[in-house]
Amino acid sequence: MAIVIVSDIKNLEPWIKALKKADPAVDVITQNEVKDKSAIEFALAWNYPHGFFSEYPRLKTISSMGAGVDHLLNDKFLQEHIKIVRIIDPLLSNDIYEFSLAVIMNRLRLLTHFQENQRLRIWKKRMYRRISDVRIGVMGTGVIGSHMLSKLYKSGFNVSGWGRTRGKEVPYKKYYGTGQMENFLRNTDILICLLPLTPETNGILNKDTLQMLPGKAWVVNMGRGGHVVDEDLIEILDSGHLDGANLDVFREEPLPPDHPFWSHPKIYLTPHIASLPNPESVAPQITENYRRTIENRPLINMVDRKRGY
Ligand code: NDP
Ligand code: OXD
Repeated sequence: MAIVIVSDIKNLEPWIKALKKADPAVDVITQNEVKDKSAIEFALAWNYPHGFFSEYPRLKTISSMGAGVDHLLNDKFLQEHIKIVRIIDPLLSNDIYEFSLAVIMNRLRLLTHFQENQRLRIWKKRMYRRISDVRIGVMGTGVIGSHMLSKLYKSGFNVSGWGRTRGKEVPYKKYYGTGQMENFLRNTDILICLLPLTPETNGILNKDTLQMLPGKAWVVNMGRGGHVVDEDLIEILDSGHLDGANLDVFREEPLPPDHPFWSHPKIYLTPHIASLPNPESVAPQITENYRRTIENRPLINMVDRKRGY
């Protein structure tokens, strides 16, 4: 029995090392090292070819290597009985919070603008904005979104969240459900998307919803590329309604070289690095779920396959 890693990540050594450190008794192999597919009960996966697991008749659990599971749930060949678990990690949540903070502060203090002026040798003061001057709206108030909201709130930001359900009491404004989405967007100057990609959230950032943001608003997408309707975002940016967008995730990754986002003057790209899972930090929960799988015990960090996250 072993954990098999099936992933497009080039260097899996840090993962193998961390998993063995978390549980020295566990055997960790990569997909090319599997000798008997019928002996595998647990897999750790990221961006694998769909249908890959059809040849693993005794597979019981797949753990995502990250927080998102859309790459697994989109695999229509994945059998119903296979359980899916994901990563929930305070380090990962905090990395995303720190990334957002960098993006927000850059926007408030106009660092990119002054960098460009430096390139053009322009000495020109321009008034910045303060933390208290903007309203931050976070779509997706789950593990990562609620961590971010609470840290931003404690730093003095005017924040609100939008989720699917009301959820527990929070000290900031919380909107929920499609009925409250417009109100949430109309009161958001910097919109941060941290939703999971599901049939309901696919294309959620489109012409209609982006138009609901106040003029000069800014969009930050760290959820999934599928949340944005690419042509609509470009149209709204070009119309002048939005000031710009930071995009960390894309419908196709790597972003194709001829995609218009690359050269758009109001779009700032990063290559899906808002957070990079840290193998040392996440390995213990993966080996824990491996043990639970082979001992037929309830798993942790379970994904509701019907709900989609
Ligand atoms: P969670 O499952 O903990 O939270 C998901 C949140 O989305 C919940 O608040 C849920 O609402 C809300 N939601 C789901 N569907 C809807 C809907 N139809 N309408 C409104 N709200 C909805 O996920 P995480 O916080 O752990 O992660 C979120 C996503 O962040 C991941 O799925 C992944 O796509 C992305 N991510 C990106 C990374 C990057 O580096 N760019 C890194 C890690 C994650 P409710 O609370 O009511 O259930
Ligand atoms: C993700 C992750 O889901 O990197 O994007 O964890």
